[in-house]
Amino acid sequence: MNILLLGSGGRECAIAWKLQQSPLCKQLFIAPGNAGSSAFGNNISLSVNDFEGIKQFCIKEHIDILFPGPEDPLVAGIYDFFKKDPELKHIIVVGPSKEGAQLEGSKAFSKKFMQRHKIPTAAYREFNNDNFEEGIVYLENHILPIVLKADGLAAGKGVVIAQSTDEAISTFKSMIKDAQFGDASKTVVVEQFLDGIELSVFVFTDGTNYVLLPEAKDYKRIGEGDKGPNTGGMGAISPVPFADATFMRKVIERIVEPTVKGLKDEHIIYQGIIFVGLIKVDNEPYVIEYNCRMGDPETEVVMPRLQNDLVEMILKMSEGKLNEVTVQHDPRAACAVMLVSEGYPGNYPKGRVMTGFEKVKDSLLFHAGTATKDNAIITNGGRVIAITSYGGTIKNALAKSYENAALIEYEGKYYRRDIGWEFTS
Ligand code: AMP
Ligand code: GLY
Repeated sequence: MNILLLGSGGRECAIAWKLQQSPLCKQLFIAPGNAGSSAFGNNISLSVNDFEGIKQFCIKEHIDILFPGPEDPLVAGIYDFFKKDPELKHIIVVGPSKEGAQLEGSKAFSKKFMQRHKIPTAAYREFNNDNFEEGIVYLENHILPIVLKADGLAAGKGVVIAQSTDEAISTFKSMIKDAQFGDASKTVVVEQFLDGIELSVFVFTDGTNYVLLPEAKDYKRIGEGDKGPNTGGMGAISPVPFADATFMRKVIERIVEPTVKGLKDEHIIYQGIIFVGLIKVDNEPYVIEYNCRMGDPETEVVMPRLQNDLVEMILKMSEGKLNEVTVQHDPRAACAVMLVSEGYPGNYPKGRVMTGFEKVKDSLLFHAGTATKDNAIITNGGRVIAITSYGGTIKNALAKSYENAALIEYEGKYYRRDIGWEFTS
């Protein structure tokens, strides 16, 4: 199989690492990739949103499988673009149709979907310019805190948890009236705040059958003790101790199965990953969000724990035979610590020379924001590199990642030293 993987993050590095281990993988290309992904395949200078360029490349290189890593091309309809084109339609696309990708692309769409299928989620209302005044009254009478979400994709910044009514109203105004996130915030979902602990569940579906990949938990805040602004994710662990058999049974019965069945019943084409962001409140699972792709940095611990051949799973997915797959988990824990650039998630410098890679032992390095310049590896993003380690326990896995985190050097290196804190004391 010739495979084209789209993306340039730690997630794509981990997917590339996994794909190239398969005997079924003949050639792997990563567009555009980063300084680390070139160890697993050929980096191609193509943007993930350049559908025409991707088409020409797929034809030229006889691509059999297209694996979009990030949500952007999926929400923009890359699946439909491929399936409508006689020259591309034979190519397996790992991901949903444009309509299916609305589970991530529109919060209002996903809330209505959950309501239709009685999937547990926070109570909500939807507002736009037409019912703006009604929204203000709703906010004035809402208990605190209040969660406001821009409907569309907002690069992970579209969710505000307002601690006061004033903050909620000013956020609401800037989203709807001042188009703070452009068209993405023309519609705003206002929802009940759920107080609990989060968990990421990854469903791989062929549209009828599904399998679960190992679950994970990410650490979103920049600061230790889960303080400060949200980031793309500062680290991840798998397995998640509180996701025991009883809890996961509830997740499957109340969330995973109604989601897969709901998509099928509504004739929404979906062959790929459904990432369910969950929150556990008093031992009950609620959906916080759906994503139509893998999580980052969750993938950097999920792929290392997945023992199956990923290419084989993709082929089974395309044949509608995921019922024939039994997912095998590595019994060890895997933990990832993300090294980031100083200033992230705000402004940060790029181009800092990185050293010390050769000293790293017993960890996997999944590059994120890195590039190559004059034979050196340099920083090229906010999240720079994920250091993943295995261990008999989460604590042991983390200890290895932290040992190695100290060995990779660049100016302005920052990382959280308390990943997995709830489970390591
Ligand atoms: P989302 O983009 O929907 O994943 O939201 C980003 C983050 O905001 C989530 O990971 C949660 O930490 C938080 N969040 C979103 N919705 C809620 C909610 N209803 N209650 C509490 N926290 C939430
Ligand atoms: N780590 C959360 C996400 O990928 O959306």
